[in-house]
Amino acid sequence: MKFFVDTAEIDAIKELNDLGMVDGVTTNPSLIAKSGRDILEVTKEICELVEGPVSAEVVATEADAMIAEGRKLAKIAENIAVKVPLTWDGLKACNVLTDEGNMVNVTLCFSPNQALLAAKAGATFISPFIGRLDDLNLDGLDLIADIRQVYDNYGFETEILAASIRSANHMSECAKIGADVATAPPNVIKAMANHVLTDKGLAAFLADAEKANIKIV
Ligand code: G3P
Repeated sequence: MKFFVDTAEIDAIKELNDLGMVDGVTTNPSLIAKSGRDILEVTKEICELVEGPVSAEVVATEADAMIAEGRKLAKIAENIAVKVPLTWDGLKACNVLTDEGNMVNVTLCFSPNQALLAAKAGATFISPFIGRLDDLNLDGLDLIADIRQVYDNYGFETEILAASIRSANHMSECAKIGADVATAPPNVIKAMANHVLTDKGLAAFLADAEKANIKIV
């Protein structure tokens, strides 16, 4: 499963990228706003930092304007994936932008039907939002499993980019289901390393090493 980092914070991307943990980056208008930076400038910097796809989202809502914004974003770098919302206009924009050779990430997906439409529109990635379904006491991971089944039934090449990931558990469950990509905030990726038995076991090892005066010099 590919790891994308869901942030526009350069330092956080750098830290994980230096560890080889970054296969791509996703941003959206809220993450760009949080960065406090100009979208074209910060997106360019991210594209120079990582080799994999970097999703940058349009803010227009009408197809022609989305296409125009998407073309501007695509000009930033080779590894740009233009992000469009899963609306009828977004699907139209997806169709045109992918026909022109751009990567397109169709976002704000909440149902298998929406994912089917995105695949038919030629989407490179589909972004089903797990956390926001969980917020409604629905099971967001069920959506990932449903889309995996539908795409595998018909051999769709659109990659499932699991998004709105809130926990390390979401990451492992997405990997078990077979999501192609999971995009998560830096702290969630880091939390994947945590386990209480690891901490307990390490403390015991270090205590024994001290007692036995083990030194590696
Ligand atoms: O990539 C989408 C993600 O940023 C949304 O996450 O936690 O706001 O649902 P969240």
